[in-house]
Formats: sequence, C-alpha cells, structure tokens
Amino acid sequence: MRIDILTLFPEMFDGPLSESIMKRAVEKGLVEIHFHDIRDYSEDKHRRVDDYPFGGGAGMVMRIEPIARLIEELKGQRDYDEIIYTTPDGETFDQRLANKLSLSGNIMILCGHYKGIDQRVRDLYITMEISIGDFVLTGGELAAAVMIDAIVRLVPGVISDETSALTDSFQDNLLSPPVYTRPADFRGHKVPDVLLSGHEKKIEEWREQQAYERTKKLRPDLLE
Ligand code: ADE
Repeated sequence: MRIDILTLFPEMFDGPLSESIMKRAVEKGLVEIHFHDIRDYSEDKHRRVDDYPFGGGAGMVMRIEPIARLIEELKGQRDYDEIIYTTPDGETFDQRLANKLSLSGNIMILCGHYKGIDQRVRDLYITMEISIGDFVLTGGELAAAVMIDAIVRLVPGVISDETSALTDSFQDNLLSPPVYTRPADFRGHKVPDVLLSGHEKKIEEWREQQAYERTKKLRPDLLE
C-alpha cells in the first residue's frame, strides 16, 4: 500500500508515524508513506499558498493552483483508489472505514488548514471527505496521522499475530473484554478464576459475555 500525504507541515508526522508498529510496517516494505510539502508547488516567491476569501470574511483560504499542480503530478504517476480530504465536515472516520481503506493500493490524503481550501479543489479532485470527530483541530495533519495509524495496522502482515487485529474493539461492533497478566493476585484483587482454569471453551465464552456486557454498559449504541 502507498500513502501520499499532501501537507503544509510534513514535520508534524515525524513522531506518530516513525515509531512502533508504523515504523515496522514501513521497514518491512508493507506500506510506503510519501510526504509532499504543498509549499513546494507554490508559484509565489514567498512560497505563499493561501489568500483572502472572495466576498470577505475572517481567515485565509488555501489556493487551488499549488494543490492542483501537486495532485495532477501524482495522478500522472499512478492511479489512486481515493483522494481524501481531512475536514471536520466530512464523513466520520470509524473502524469500518479503516477496514475499507486498508484494502487500497494507493491513497492520497490532503490535509486542510486555515479556514479551508478553495471549494474547487474539493469539487474537482477529492473523492472522500473524512472527519475524525465533532471537534476542530488546527489542521488536518493529526487527523491524517490518526487515520493512517488505524488503517496501516490492518494491512495484512503488519501485526505479526494475525488474529490480534481481528479481535480489536469495534471489529465486530463489540468492545474488547478485559485482559489480565501476572500477578494473579494483586493486594487481594484477583484475576477471574476462569482465566486461570485452562479451559479454552469456557474462557472463550467468558470473553464473549464480557465483551457483550461491556458494550451494553458503555456503548449501547453499538448494539442497535
Ligand atoms: N481538520 C480540522 N478538524 C478536523 C477533524 N475533526 N477531522 C478531520 N480533519 C480536521
């Protein structure tokens, strides 16, 4: 899978995508992540990429030309399954979308900033608009990093224990059951007996029941 990130702040991705599972996914060659600084596509000698909104109003708007040049260059090199724009008014990101996008060959993610981007970018190039929740971030970079983390861990081979991504919370619309490790008794707080019983079928039943009860208590909306 190849992910192209179009951003004004490529350095913002340094931490989240260069550690742990994300780092291994890239090192194993399962995922390629390429960063493109939109400013490099500005025709302006000050590398400006924003301008005042027509009709007036607060805030600056990202101009279409640098973004169009960058997107057209990339599209000329390969086909993309989706060209995604991160924006608070997009479709809400969830595990279903993460699953779907993890099956892609190539995706582009355009990170928004300022008041937004010229509407014509959205009309002409964007195939999917995604929000990570009902709150406003200063830019789309953190939203893109969150989405990439959720997508990449689902790419086959990224998580070594094949079943572990499949048993995540949300994967079957249920929250995960509680987990425990040693010691079996911490100051009188004991691990449930069934987990120490060695009885696989009973353990599985207990986990399913716990997952259901947790979901009913904490996220009843998932059961509807
Ligand atoms: N950009 C600003 N806020 C955002 C959000 N909640 N989701 C995606 N992109 C954003």
